[in-house]
Amino acid sequence: EKHRIERIASSIRVIPNFPKPGIMFQDITTLLLDPNAFGDTVELFVERYRDQRISVVAGVEARGFIFGPPIALAIGAKFVPLRKPKKLPGEVISEEYSLEYGTDKIEMHVGAVQPNDRAIVIDDLIATGGTLCAAVKLLERVGAVVVECACVIELPELNGREKLGGIPLFVLINRA
Ligand code: PRP
Ligand code: MG
Repeated sequence: EKHRIERIASSIRVIPNFPKPGIMFQDITTLLLDPNAFGDTVELFVERYRDQRISVVAGVEARGFIFGPPIALAIGAKFVPLRKPKKLPGEVISEEYSLEYGTDKIEMHVGAVQPNDRAIVIDDLIATGGTLCAAVKLLERVGAVVVECACVIELPELNGREKLGGIPLFVLINRA
């Protein structure tokens, strides 16, 4: 387990000062180049969720679309994409969240998730927690139970975990 996490952590490239001075960008594209590390990442989530009667894996555009689908397939759950505005063609509900400057929005198709669904939300990284918080709200608005949020990487200094209002957060790697 420790071995697997260490291999995953070392496969993630850190690029200083991207996209802005002072930001240490956590680049998961290098994890994707290493099939062992990518496979272990998916497997660690699958091991955690396979026996929890999860019916929905929701992933946040864009990087949640990389990790969510293989997990959903492996545990036999629906994959539900939570998209940036104006991308989904059907009827949607949307949630706004704040960025450093201004706001952004994510949307979910009406009818994709039912009140009896048990969901997890997957993303690559939690920073301020705004993105995951909006995702949780979308799922809860349609009556689903959000069992947990899960990320590959947490930036604990930004206290994003506290924004999730009591929904547990599972992460593989802490980057302090
Ligand atoms: C990044 C990252 C998370 C989010 C975390 O996505 O993939 O989704 O920021 O930040 P937060 O916890 O402060 O909300 P981004 O919006 O940059 O877009 P992308 O996934 O489409 O690259
Ligand atoms: Mg993202």
